Amino acid sequence: MPAPLDITPPTGRLGILTPGMGAVASTAYAGVLASRKGLAAPVGSLTQMAHIRLGAREDARNPLIREFVPLAGLDDVVFGGWDPISPNALEAARTCGVLDERDLAPLSGELEGINAMSAVFDQRWVKKLDGVRVKTGESKWDLVQQLIADIETFRTENECDRLVMVWCGSTEAYQEPTEVHETVEAFEAGLRADDPNISPSQIYVYAALTSGVPFANGAPNLSIDLPCMEQLAIERGVPVTGKDFKTGQTLMKTILAPGFKARMLGMRGWYSTNILGNRDGEVLDDPENFKTKEVSKLGVLDTILQPEVYPDLYGNIDHVVRINYYPPRGDNKEGWDAIDIFGWMNYPMQIKVDFMCRDSILAAPIVLDLALFLDLAQRAGQSGVQEWLSFYWKAPQATGDVPPEHDIFIQQTKLKNTLREWMGEDPVTHSEAG
Ligand SMILES: NC(=O)c1ccc[n+]([C@@H]2O[C@H](COP(=O)([O-])OP(=O)(O)OC[C@H]3O[C@@H](n4cnc5c(N)ncnc54)[C@H](O)[C@@H]3O)[C@@H](O)[C@H]2O)c1
Repeated sequence: MPAPLDITPPTGRLGILTPGMGAVASTAYAGVLASRKGLAAPVGSLTQMAHIRLGAREDARNPLIREFVPLAGLDDVVFGGWDPISPNALEAARTCGVLDERDLAPLSGELEGINAMSAVFDQRWVKKLDGVRVKTGESKWDLVQQLIADIETFRTENECDRLVMVWCGSTEAYQEPTEVHETVEAFEAGLRADDPNISPSQIYVYAALTSGVPFANGAPNLSIDLPCMEQLAIERGVPVTGKDFKTGQTLMKTILAPGFKARMLGMRGWYSTNILGNRDGEVLDDPENFKTKEVSKLGVLDTILQPEVYPDLYGNIDHVVRINYYPPRGDNKEGWDAIDIFGWMNYPMQIKVDFMCRDSILAAPIVLDLALFLDLAQRAGQSGVQEWLSFYWKAPQATGDVPPEHDIFIQQTKLKNTLREWMGEDPVTHSEAG
């Protein structure tokens, strides 16, 4: 058995800060508050609902994850965030229209009390939005200092022992890393010189990491997946993870594709299209913002299917992803997949998936799990990229030269085995012997 890690107990309060207080963030807050009051079960959350097998099958040890690892309890969680448009979480929840008024009513006082702090926002990165409560400063360095001050004020006023930050802001325009992102020193010089290549989300990451606050990136834009941020996370001893919450269509893709591959069925094409009508859909209607999302969504199939290992089966796939803004649907996205597979003697077959999904209902439990697991990782002395959290991401961040793992079943095994090892239990291999 591995030696257990020395994990500091989760005493006191945990503050969960979200840059972005829109559909995902407000739905996440509401679900936790409702769960705390016993009004709704936290469905979709591993930290709250999943069990974990320990030892051999005949040992019959299968505790809840939250009883096995020392996670912060929901009663000890407090929320805060920044937004350039939403004034508070109640207003955000009502505007996005994910939850019914009857579900919001018993939580309205608490949600209204979660006021959004003024954001670091620049329309250059999100053309479709007009920010109204936006910080101003002489330079990006000055904006970092204002965020650090917000973090410390929140920590003190809410008597938090620990904080984590989960980016729930809009997807920023597509960007390639530049010289300013290469080292911490270059990035700090860029902040002082107002380098145009530094985006708002990167300013939040820098403020979080220098404040010792773990960071998760729920959107596909570049933020922690930059050499300077990976260096800073290690230097400051802070765990980070990203990127782009795995919900909706990509969740389906990473559930189905491993199944086709497991049975050695070939694939000729996968056409995915979505209609959605929320603010996220409006932002993604801009080609520059959509490109960021497209890159994140397209990477999935290649790593699961390994065309380089199986050229006959997966060497010639047309993979297309489209998102169309269609206001009548609001947050209730419809995602269609037309999948062209082939079997014995190359006979073609078609599969159609029509997922009438609710994006934020799928994303909200991910926000909670990431916050609780990142807090655990920090108390367990972990820093840098947390690959064991790949389970939650469309474009998981990996370390070194190895490609990220996209197969949701391998990701789940990795997550659970990491928890087992941290707690001094043997990994479960599912071999005939175990
Ligand atoms: N809903 C999902 O299932 C899902 C899945 C994967 C990724 N995402 C990503 O999560 C993010 C949030 O999604 P959503 O549906 O809540 O979108 P949303 O538009 O409802 O909320 C985003 C909020 O971020 C705010 N914002 C924009 N720039 C900001 C900044 N610089 N600082 C602080 N706030 C800022 C906006 O004003 C808005 O209120 C998006 O980037 C989206 O692409 C969502």
